[in-house]
Amino acid sequence: RKPVTLHRLRAMHGDGEKISMLTCYDATFARVLDDAGVDCLLVGDSLGMVLQGHTSTVPVTLEEMAYHVRCVARGNRTACVIGDLPFGSYQSSIAQAIDSASALMQAGAHMVKLEGGGWTAPVVRALVERGIPVCAHLGLTPQSVHALGGWRVQGREESGAATLMAHAKELADAGATMLVLELVTSAVGTEVTKAIGIPTIGIGAGPDCSGQVLVLHDALGMAERPARFVRNFMAEGGGITEAARRYVAAVKDGSFPETGTHTY
Ligand code: KIV
Ligand code: NA
Repeated sequence: RKPVTLHRLRAMHGDGEKISMLTCYDATFARVLDDAGVDCLLVGDSLGMVLQGHTSTVPVTLEEMAYHVRCVARGNRTACVIGDLPFGSYQSSIAQAIDSASALMQAGAHMVKLEGGGWTAPVVRALVERGIPVCAHLGLTPQSVHALGGWRVQGREESGAATLMAHAKELADAGATMLVLELVTSAVGTEVTKAIGIPTIGIGAGPDCSGQVLVLHDALGMAERPARFVRNFMAEGGGITEAARRYVAAVKDGSFPETGTHTY
């Protein structure tokens, strides 16, 4: 397959082709997931939980993220590699965000991701102006788990949904390439996807998002207490490559996520 560039992602969105994303933290999984046709490999700061055993993503450092981006970049051939900017690496100033994003781009990322709305719009604009593609992230933003009061579905109240919608529009206007929506009602996922011109990538955000993402270990059935939005793609048997292929196929044909089973 040809490399999954920004141009290709925009074409997929334009054609109504769903975008498949999985998290990935090392070279071997990068090779396997790339071969299986996963469009985007997200080097997520979820590695703080699934690899490092922390109870949140807050302790993850920029150096740790750069290390895993380097590992994934070496194993990947054609997928779009997205590196998460960790907690504390982009909040202080635009200069800090540029330096941190540059470190992940030099480690081999094709795009960086950052969490939050409102104050992040000028940060996104500054990165995009400097040639750094950005994926935004709204809804349940795990780096803010302590402020949000736990892992709860976001946008259930009308005011929360309205704020989320306003933030989504600002981030799209600021030049974000994509927007991850995490743990929001399907109604919010649908409305935001309709309202903005960039692809939304859902995780527990309903079936109408422009694409889907899961934490790799969850998709492979390794979660201790899987969230409602998780499907174990190993359940039907076969190996990891087959599970990854099944994930891609289910995202592309819209059979994952299933309304009711995986949604809010
Ligand atoms: O770090 C991560 O894995 C993420 C996804 C869950 C979107 O940010
Ligand atoms: Na993350």
